Amino acid sequence: MDKLLIEGGAPLSGSVRVSGAKNAALPLMAAAILADGPLTLTNIPRLGDLRTMGRLLGHMGGRVGLYPEEAGGYREEAVLDMSGLARPEAPHDLVKTMRASALVLGPLLARHGQARVSLPGGCAIGVRPIDLHLRALAAMGAEFDLSGGDIMARAPRGGLAGADIRFETVTVTGTENVMMAAVLAKGRTIIRNAAREPEVSDTARALVAMGAKIGGIDGDELSIEGVDVLRSASHAVMPDRIEAGTLLAAVAMAGGKATIRGARLNDLAVVLGKFTEAGVLLRAQNGDLTVESEPGALSAVNVSTSPYPGFPTDMQAQFLAMMATARGASIITETIFENRFMHVAELRRLGADVTLEGRTAVVKGVGRLSGAPMTASDLRASACLILAALAATGSSEVSRVYHLDRGYDRLDLKLAGLGARISRVKDD
Ligand code: UD1
Repeated sequence: MDKLLIEGGAPLSGSVRVSGAKNAALPLMAAAILADGPLTLTNIPRLGDLRTMGRLLGHMGGRVGLYPEEAGGYREEAVLDMSGLARPEAPHDLVKTMRASALVLGPLLARHGQARVSLPGGCAIGVRPIDLHLRALAAMGAEFDLSGGDIMARAPRGGLAGADIRFETVTVTGTENVMMAAVLAKGRTIIRNAAREPEVSDTARALVAMGAKIGGIDGDELSIEGVDVLRSASHAVMPDRIEAGTLLAAVAMAGGKATIRGARLNDLAVVLGKFTEAGVLLRAQNGDLTVESEPGALSAVNVSTSPYPGFPTDMQAQFLAMMATARGASIITETIFENRFMHVAELRRLGADVTLEGRTAVVKGVGRLSGAPMTASDLRASACLILAALAATGSSEVSRVYHLDRGYDRLDLKLAGLGARISRVKDD
């Protein structure tokens, strides 16, 4: 297992490119199950979670070409041919490391009429059930049984049928799962209160390129007319808005001036607004974003997470770290997940002053944090601890960075490229 050694206090400078989005690449890889030929995805980030999804598709009998090697490196690409799928199942050892494995359920039911998917267990950041996915698929005619911890799913004899579905809670992967089931179902499906996250739209656009008929993309009501077959297509994965926000927070906290290339600024509107409110200087030019900040010059800003276009829960931990060093007190409210403040205990070890009351954190900025050893508990928490260490005086260690590698494309190397003093060592 690797850990990161970080020497804080170095300002950041230079430029860095944002990779493809994890949360778009995952449903897009699952969408390959729907096609009668290969799906080619470009701008694929190098992530542990995508390797897991690749293994899962391979386990089912698909031909998976992930990160093909070429002279001097590899291509950021996945070519996925699931036309020879033999085993429509997602076993526990793969699902347990990645809840997003549940994204294969809708495509398997739509294309193969059956699926066996291990029930995702509890997760560090909350209960995270998939009951809403199952209820929506049941409305389309699917039947479910539970056996040995697996969901045994079956579509009716004539295939899934379109349905009028309203999600009582906005669910990102739930919307994607049902959308992918609906594109090959008989008749029309309406998804009301659909998630509007840009990653849902990116998946929808790839499905349209494959021949799907989806109306209302980018809105909260999707209208899907089932078709008989989806064909090969090629799609470039959208840039990762959470990675972009994390890099932004790194520069804001460590201080300095750097350019973040390749982010889609529209996807980040609310996040950028909060950074500006906190006193971070942002300048957009030709699609690049230049960020400038002085350590100690940030001021407190309140944030409450909500579904897109609101402030993303996946940026909460990083923003909280930033507020730990700002002037004044901020209130950070987490409305999406019930247990997403595990980074707080670790941040306190660096001297952060944070009080938790249910879903709210009151963060009193302390100016300078001081380095300490820390343990990452989940993906975004890992990023939060790294940011705190960059801004702290002295040395820090962040262990269990496999969480980080699941969802960030070599964040440590990108930060080192900006001048951060960060290195990776084996943790025995
Ligand atoms: C996705 C993202 C994750 C992000 C989250 C919220 C992927 C691969 N992951 O996760 O990074 O943090 O959206 O933006 O895209 N819920 C239920 N029942 C369900 C489904 C969800 O109660 O069947 C609840 C969840 O517990 C949570 C809320 O709904 O409280 C939203 O979760 P959801 O949007 O489904 O998150 P994910 O799709 O798992």
